[in-house]
Amino acid sequence: MMYGELSSYGIIHHKFEKEELKFLYEEVNFLKDNFSKATPANDELVGHIVNEYYLSGKTTGILQEMMMPLIQEYDARWPNFLARPFFDRDVAIGLKDAWVNFQKKYEYNPVHDHSGIFSFVLWLNIPFDREEEDNTPYSRNVHPTARANGKFELLYTNCLGGIEGHRFPIDKSFEGVALLFPSTMKHCVYPFYTSDDYRISVSGNYHYRIPSS
Ligand SMILES: [Fe+2]
Repeated sequence: MMYGELSSYGIIHHKFEKEELKFLYEEVNFLKDNFSKATPANDELVGHIVNEYYLSGKTTGILQEMMMPLIQEYDARWPNFLARPFFDRDVAIGLKDAWVNFQKKYEYNPVHDHSGIFSFVLWLNIPFDREEEDNTPYSRNVHPTARANGKFELLYTNCLGGIEGHRFPIDKSFEGVALLFPSTMKHCVYPFYTSDDYRISVSGNYHYRIPSS
């Protein structure tokens, strides 16, 4: 008997060392204390989140290089994704923009997708415990597999055209973890309830850089 796997695409996740993210924590901590000096990103985002800001060009440049190995890994694992015949020659990929979300309790990010080819989320600060979130009055009576407080969810169609959801049980162990996914993949962030601190994450979109002719 033989099995046939039906091909699809996936995601890449990688945990960075705190030391590798020092440049990011420095800028984000500065922004956290100086919201009035930051450039709001709310107009371009769908998050129901008050404090969303663009990162500086310098930090975006460092991020671009830091995340590039994940893109190379994605291309090695799922070569068809970038090999689809968009162009008749090699075209570079670059990080067009990057921003930081300072999410407070009750705030959330509804189902959405991004522009670009690849997008990422990188969690920097998670202020709640998974057990406490799962034990709020809103979630404790829900079946454990359906609890959603504070989780990040990817939504995608399976080989039968049905919609699947993959929830990441975000907690402190996700600090420093980056997730790379195709930009058009739908996703959302559920609200958390048990902390007054910020849940801080950084995101960005990689686009093709098409040279002007
Ligand atoms: Fe997003």
